[in-house]
Amino acid sequence: MTSLDTPPAAAPQVDATGLGRIEVGASRINVDDKRMINARADVNQLLPMKYTWAWEKYLAGCNNHWMPTEVAMQADIALWKSKDGLTSDERQMLKRNLGFFATAESLVANNIVLAVYRQITNPECRQYLLRQAFEEAVHTHTFQYICESLGLVEGELFNMYREVPSISAKDAWALKYTQHLEDPDFKTGTPEADQAFLRDLVAFYVIFEGMWFYTGFAQILSLGRRNKMIGIAEQYQYILRDESIHLNFGIDCINQIKIENPHLWTEEFQAEIRGMLTDACHLEVAYAKDTMPRGMLGLSAQHTEQYMHFITDRRAQQIGLAPIFGEEENPFPWMSEAMDLKKEKNFFETRVIEYQSGGALDWD
Ligand SMILES: [Fe+2]
Ligand SMILES: [Fe+2]
Repeated sequence: MTSLDTPPAAAPQVDATGLGRIEVGASRINVDDKRMINARADVNQLLPMKYTWAWEKYLAGCNNHWMPTEVAMQADIALWKSKDGLTSDERQMLKRNLGFFATAESLVANNIVLAVYRQITNPECRQYLLRQAFEEAVHTHTFQYICESLGLVEGELFNMYREVPSISAKDAWALKYTQHLEDPDFKTGTPEADQAFLRDLVAFYVIFEGMWFYTGFAQILSLGRRNKMIGIAEQYQYILRDESIHLNFGIDCINQIKIENPHLWTEEFQAEIRGMLTDACHLEVAYAKDTMPRGMLGLSAQHTEQYMHFITDRRAQQIGLAPIFGEEENPFPWMSEAMDLKKEKNFFETRVIEYQSGGALDWD
């Protein structure tokens, strides 16, 4: 569990970028002056450390290091190329699933680097953000590698967020919350601006990474459980493991900002956040129906909707809000097991000895 600190009296605000003029001879920093936003202590000094939960996530991310090219793709390529390996519904689901993730990883990465990093004024949190940014690059690499291995049409996959309405709807909804943050003139420090930043953290960490990835994870892991597309399923397990830390980092950030700035978490603002979670849940249910119009692999439309209600309630509770749907039953309990993956054990059974790009293999 995470321990979150209570704020001491505020020190004067200091340069929030870390790139300002050096105050030669300034006194050493007091750990109690460190803040999540609106810096009160030099942002270039990792030690003394205040938010150990952020540092622990940085170490956990490093311990989970993996590369998509370490996963053998031969079985996936054979299945994808065989005429009756997958049903047409499964093919359609797989393509739309990959199409969503292919650009979603990039949107998340751009939000971290161009919006979140600038506003978080704490070095241990920035250390984690640097690690997370790299992991998002690894995830984007995964979709490049899958595309190349299966010989998918690049333009079809990577342009899907501009061609498939249920994907465009999700991405456009989230982008609203980051667009004004990338404005070079945007600065936290007023209640309105600080709330705008909190909305961005909710939209990307709690919703994008914490809700919208989960239908996709359930779809691919369900294929894998039936021994189909096992290489992609293994890669998704690694992504899921990374994403669960990203989500928990975002939740800790939001909760710590709330502790340090209780005036931001008004009744009105809480109602607004609950509205965001509700809208996001509906967008995800629409996406699930679009990718699986008839249900498949034990994933009926009804269960997928129930699962998203369950996830939405869990996310609401994690940021201190009452449940929205009152759904207490997880219809896919095997999803939690999938998160406990141990890389070594899995790799011992599946890793290839001699690496070769899957797309270069001859399967005729
Ligand atoms: Fe990711
Ligand atoms: Fe992520």
